[in-house]
Amino acid sequence: MITFEQVKANPQIHQFIKQSAEYLKDIGYTDHGFRHVGIVADRAGKIARNLKFNKIDTESSKIAGYCHDMGNFLGRTYHHYWGGLLFHQVFNQDDDIKQVSDIMEAIVAHDKEDIKIMNKVSAAAIIADKSDVHRSRVLARRPDKIKADIHDRVNYAVKDNHLDVYPAKKIIRLSLTIDEKFSQPMNYFEIFTTRMVYCRVAAEYLGYKFSLEINKFRLA
Ligand SMILES: [Fe+2]
Ligand SMILES: [Fe+2]
Repeated sequence: MITFEQVKANPQIHQFIKQSAEYLKDIGYTDHGFRHVGIVADRAGKIARNLKFNKIDTESSKIAGYCHDMGNFLGRTYHHYWGGLLFHQVFNQDDDIKQVSDIMEAIVAHDKEDIKIMNKVSAAAIIADKSDVHRSRVLARRPDKIKADIHDRVNYAVKDNHLDVYPAKKIIRLSLTIDEKFSQPMNYFEIFTTRMVYCRVAAEYLGYKFSLEINKFRLA
């Protein structure tokens, strides 16, 4: 079994993530570096633990979360495909091929909205990734340009962000605290509706309901 620790310690994976973060910084995107992938890995792990995934799927969820954006340095548009294929360049014939292909599938699925979710690892990675909206994603990038870009404004407005899993009620809830000085909750919807729909589809795959709460107001 490939472990999360092993992936984090791998110099090639490290370089791909670092280089992707630099690439996206250069073209003006929000943070996609070690901060983002660290949070996504943690969250995917939290979902896996709460939903009692087996050991290998739990490790794979964290790994997919950590590696999901590492293909960006080869171009943004197909970064999910590059990421999946890069993973196989590093972990291949000596590794558990079922685990490798599940992780590849999850990396591709995170940004391919028309894909059919076929494993738990993909569902966990998608929810973990799409729920990471926070002002630190902008601050890490381009604090001077916040007002100009709606993605930046919405991300910047999010002061607090929690993802909670309630196994008894079968609910996964994203709770956001938005500073309305920077963005109205309505702007959030303009930008993030697709992401939230994707979270809902992924949660449903896991047999859960996805719930969204903004400034203590429950919207779903
Ligand atoms: Fe991505
Ligand atoms: Fe991401």
